[in-house]
Amino acid sequence: MKALMPGATVGVLGGGQLGRMMAIEARRMGYRVVVLDPSPRCPTAQVADGVVVGALDDLESARHLAQQVDVITLDTEHVPADLLAELEKIVPVRPGSSVLRTINDRQIQKQFLDRLGLPQAQWAPSTTQPELDAALVKLGRPAIVKVRRAGYDGKGQVRVEETGDAGAELAKLRGEPSVAEELVRFKREISVVLARGLTGELKIYPIAENVHRRHILHTTRAPAPMKPATKVRAEEIAITVAEALGHVGVMAVEMFELVDGRLLVNEIAPRTHNSGHYTWGACVTSQFEQHIRAVCGLPLGDPRPMTGAVMVNLIGDLWRAGQPAWEHVLERPEARLHLYGKDAPAPGRKMGHVLLLDDDTDRGLVTADQLIATLTPT
Ligand SMILES: Nc1ncnc2c1ncn2[C@@H]1O[C@H](COP(=O)(O)OP(=O)(O)OP(=O)(O)O)[C@@H](O)[C@H]1O
Ligand SMILES: [Mg+2]
Repeated sequence: MKALMPGATVGVLGGGQLGRMMAIEARRMGYRVVVLDPSPRCPTAQVADGVVVGALDDLESARHLAQQVDVITLDTEHVPADLLAELEKIVPVRPGSSVLRTINDRQIQKQFLDRLGLPQAQWAPSTTQPELDAALVKLGRPAIVKVRRAGYDGKGQVRVEETGDAGAELAKLRGEPSVAEELVRFKREISVVLARGLTGELKIYPIAENVHRRHILHTTRAPAPMKPATKVRAEEIAITVAEALGHVGVMAVEMFELVDGRLLVNEIAPRTHNSGHYTWGACVTSQFEQHIRAVCGLPLGDPRPMTGAVMVNLIGDLWRAGQPAWEHVLERPEARLHLYGKDAPAPGRKMGHVLLLDDDTDRGLVTADQLIATLTPT
């Protein structure tokens, strides 16, 4: 388990914004980065040393990447675990195929959490109409039905309302295997972003409080104001997950906090996470540098916050009247603009984010919404 020192080459499967920010931090530290993505102009390729153009489930392309790098890591969990297992014969893959096998499929992920005795929303398989009918008896209505594989930003999810037509909702998932969950009436959503190194070393970031709009992350604030006991419990849950998975790298555990203080795990992301973007600017070591350190077998960096922070996502809808008015961001001394280099600002697409460095995160949240309102001329 020799550490890969700067100068080594990191291969990234998937060329989205997570890979891009990882690549920028990796290159700052002197690593080389080569990315596999179907698009030669993807966000990561724009800042990488090299790109292999190919689909993420194309073994030949992935092997071509593996042959030119010292370690492989992921921008997305939507990579077949079998493909990772093949790559592991050529080069270390971190996190490994076994982690992805557990995470990739929501049903297997939920069974894993049940086995660990970790709290989560009640759930049941719902691929067929009889399964869904049984699930609705168990979970009640409203319920949320999610495809087992490849969902993100609320895509591949439908909601069965109190009096809604369950069959019609299920049909929207076109026969994709799915699981149903009870609708959780949470007080708020939080996430724990942590890193686990090759030796099992753990570093935990300040807990993030997340607000979603239309199933897409809108804002994160950190450190989230919270009772010490809740913080301890949230960290315990995340550590249990990371250790049971044998994870290497950064990961996030999304949770619902209930009114009575209980926590339910929503889902696990075995990678850097949108709710950890604030660490790049607000913490001593960003989640992206931390991930590179972990997968290269280096000692982990300090996750300590240097300031409170609010992150607000810039979604494609903001571009409906053309380029947003960035001067409103740029004129604010506490604001940092991140854009991901995506050329098509489709509605619902994550195009960038703004980080507001402010110890007063209540004020930061107000500023975030004011800023978003000024970006699009009405
Ligand atoms: N059972 C539930 N009860 C209440 N709200 C839910 C439930 N499941 C999901 N949501 C809401 O929808 C959001 C997105 O759900 P989830 O995290 O499962 O989706 P996703 O498509 O995997 O999203 P992402 O990968 O972007 O986190 C959650 O953060 C939460 O706001
Ligand atoms: Mg989620």
